[in-house]
Amino acid sequence: MSGIGFVGEPIIVDSGNVEYSKDEIISRYEYREARVVGNRVTPLNENLIFKTQRHVPKTGVLLVGWGGNNGTTLTAGILANKLKTTWMTKEGEHHSNFLGSICRSVTMRVGIDHNLQPVYAPLFNVIPILDPVDLEIWGWDISSMNIADAMNRAKVLDYDLQRKLYPELKDMVPWPSVYSEDFIAANQCDRADNIIRGNKQEQLDTLRQNIRDFKQQRGIEKVIVLWTANTERYAEIRAGLNDTADNLLGSIEANEAEIAPSTLFAVASILEGCTYINGSPQNTFIPGVIELAERHQILIAGDDFKTGQTKIKTVLSDFLINSGLKLCSIVSYNHLGNNDGKNLSAPKTFRSKEISKSGVIDDVICANRLIYGENEHPDHCVVIKYVPYVGDSKRAMDEYTSEIFMGGRNTIVLHNTCEDSLLAAPIIMDLILLAELCTRIQIKRVEDEEFSRMHPILSILSFLLKSPQVPEGSPVVHSLFNQRYSITNFIRALVGLPPETFMLLEHKIP
Ligand code: NAI
Repeated sequence: MSGIGFVGEPIIVDSGNVEYSKDEIISRYEYREARVVGNRVTPLNENLIFKTQRHVPKTGVLLVGWGGNNGTTLTAGILANKLKTTWMTKEGEHHSNFLGSICRSVTMRVGIDHNLQPVYAPLFNVIPILDPVDLEIWGWDISSMNIADAMNRAKVLDYDLQRKLYPELKDMVPWPSVYSEDFIAANQCDRADNIIRGNKQEQLDTLRQNIRDFKQQRGIEKVIVLWTANTERYAEIRAGLNDTADNLLGSIEANEAEIAPSTLFAVASILEGCTYINGSPQNTFIPGVIELAERHQILIAGDDFKTGQTKIKTVLSDFLINSGLKLCSIVSYNHLGNNDGKNLSAPKTFRSKEISKSGVIDDVICANRLIYGENEHPDHCVVIKYVPYVGDSKRAMDEYTSEIFMGGRNTIVLHNTCEDSLLAAPIIMDLILLAELCTRIQIKRVEDEEFSRMHPILSILSFLLKSPQVPEGSPVVHSLFNQRYSITNFIRALVGLPPETFMLLEHKIP
């Protein structure tokens, strides 16, 4: 398209507020907000300094649930991109790509050219971001099936692509994992043949040793652990059990039954100094885990990958309500036939998903007291059914009903069919790449002596998560474009660029 520019190489920001050294980018940044008291609004400025390490370290990711649909699709997809694999389908030849990844397939506006036309650049040309093909991947699974056969079992990728990747994946066999049949659906027991025995402390020690071995044997500088295993039921939170970091560590030592496998993984990861990401809806981040992460200054992010239906929900509710329409009812049906669907067919695991999917419009409702009363909320119903025949090709049917001008009604109905794991894999990749970037960022107020790492709870990754974890007291943002611009505006701040305002004033001043 004419006029719109593109920068295909790393950008350099020319400004007295930004310094590029061999190792770091230092950006002095004026953060602008406004304080409101009653009806008085006072603009506030805070002077911050960001320091971003430019060297991207050799990074490894350990996937919990590696042999599942997401784990195998991600591994095969990254490998195919690395090998530049092509494959045939009845439509012809296909090339590997990273569609669906904001780190690899999205551009951000960096400014205007001399004709006042916008110029865009990929995120990785604004700030150094790990190239996914350089990621070392390994993981755990309660199923001992190698990743090549597990990829076939998943039935996600095209046959010819599976055939080409098979030899590369067949020797990858997941490490045994921690299994508790109480936490996932009973219907999963037939694949649980790869289990770490022993009490919880011994299991934790094994996981920690696995992480250390992975790092050492492959010369990896940084490891990220990511849960993409089956959804667990919610763990009970109880004083003395898991309400503080010390109580949690004590409960693991005492072999308490209510410590979920995912909690053991989070604890192992934190104690080994590794960022931990939770891609499923369960409450892995119980208070004891959060305190432990804060104590060790380890970054954590969750919960539950935001892929299809929820993404649309956070766009449509924003569109409707911020158009001044009163969204009164959302009804969402899913049916899917993959192993995730099978696991979610048990009431206790479905409940975790239902909670995760239900809160996603809260922020946009609460922000508009003109059309919603204090305790008013649209009806919101979530149904998930397991239909084996459709496999990974999930169906999502949604109905949005709104009240419009002068007593009118507006009903929007959507039917979405999509391979679930092909949406999830690039999102998992983005979570890893952006979390890794966050570990290289330090921040301080101008007047502070020392730089500190980012807050351990990575709310900046909310775009990629259905039920984002945020620091205590921080508002949860669900609206998709607000989440997206919080990432790109944050990246702009790292290189001393002002936030995107969309005002285009240069075209409005005569
Ligand atoms: P899947 O059922 O194909 O894979 C899960 C894997 O985890 C299986 O291989 C299973 O053997 C393994 N597993 C179960 N418990 C384990 C444990 N304690 N330790 C190690 N491995 C264990 O499921 P899929 O489709 O890959 O999804 C994974 C998770 O991601 C699910 O919780 C799902 O709800 C969540 N998710 C998936 C989305 C998608 O679009 N695919 C979107 C949002 C969340």
